[in-house]
Amino acid sequence: MRSVLNILLLMGAAVPALAQNYSAYQITEQSKPFNLVIESENKSLNGGLLGGCHNGAAHEGVCWVEPSFNHTSSYVSFQFNTTRTICTVTNETGTFPYDCGTPAVNATIGKTGWLTWKLVLAAGSIPPYVDQAVSLINPLTSNIAQAEISFISENAPELYVAFDNQQRMNIQSYLDDSLEPGSEYLASPRAYYRWVICHTSYSGYMYTALAWVLGPGRPQNPTCECVTVKRVWI
Ligand SMILES: *[C@@H]1O[C@H](CO)[C@@H](O)[C@H](O)[C@H]1NC(C)=O
Ligand SMILES: *[C@@H]1O[C@H](CO)[C@@H](O)[C@H](O)[C@H]1NC(C)=O
Ligand SMILES: *[C@@H]1O[C@H](CO)[C@@H](O)[C@H](O)[C@H]1NC(C)=O
Ligand SMILES: *[C@@H]1O[C@H](CO)[C@@H](O)[C@H](O)[C@H]1NC(C)=O
Ligand SMILES: *[C@@H]1O[C@H](CO)[C@@H](O)[C@H](O)[C@H]1NC(C)=O
Ligand SMILES: *[C@@H]1O[C@H](CO)[C@@H](O)[C@H](O)[C@H]1NC(C)=O
Repeated sequence: MRSVLNILLLMGAAVPALAQNYSAYQITEQSKPFNLVIESENKSLNGGLLGGCHNGAAHEGVCWVEPSFNHTSSYVSFQFNTTRTICTVTNETGTFPYDCGTPAVNATIGKTGWLTWKLVLAAGSIPPYVDQAVSLINPLTSNIAQAEISFISENAPELYVAFDNQQRMNIQSYLDDSLEPGSEYLASPRAYYRWVICHTSYSGYMYTALAWVLGPGRPQNPTCECVTVKRVWI
């Protein structure tokens, strides 16, 4: 093909315009706001909400708050950012979308994306807030990772979560290294639900906050209670 083109160029022939051009790009879409509601066998935690609690400059933990807390307050409002790939083909008649083979999402366990939260800035700021994302921070000496809100990439890697068909927040993975050796990569992702609410300490701030247990065992922090985190649209 290339040599034919070179020959055409050498011969001084006009190169015909390509009949069609393909392009692919990603768009990010943000959901409407929702609350994250805690379900737990522990009666004193059950029905509570999660909210972004200050634990550093533009840093927040994800704290348990009373069920009576104002559900529409930005403090307890989260959103969900997902990306989509758009593919188009352009020819003489126009630009048309086409299916570029984006892998199907398992609707039972849900599509993955970023959990986001708006940090409200001082009165009069333009814009009035900045959009931040939740990640998990795990000290190497613990088997729980604390949920932490910050600017994108500050606490890399970013956390991908999903909401299943019962609105339960999960984390998905193709890796199950308990199946070593050789079969640890699964053909389809599996959803895990290892959320706990614990008494945590983060750079001197003590909270009752959301964390994630690494692996199927018990959290070593003795205050942790297993919980389900549910999305409830505001
Ligand atoms: C329920 O959770 C609270 C707050 O973490 C804790 O203080 C309490 O001991 C727990 N109760 C039971 C019965 O586990
Ligand atoms: C709840 O929060 C919303 C949004 O900040 C506010 O408009 C509303 O007045 C609050 N409601 C109460 C009862 O404080
Ligand atoms: C341009 O692409 C569209 C979508 O694939 C197709 O329907 C149409 O026939 C094409 N037109 C030409 C002139 O090739
Ligand atoms: C495709 O792109 C080439 C290079 O930019 C351009 O010359 C050509 O006209 C384009 N063809 C169509 C159908 O848009
Ligand atoms: C979707 O997820 C459910 C729950 O984990 C699982 O049972 C099912 O096999 C999955 N479907 C596919 C096509 O992977
Ligand atoms: C979430 O998506 C919206 C819409 O694209 C964007 O404005 C916002 O910055 C994103 N948030 C984060 C934390 O990336």
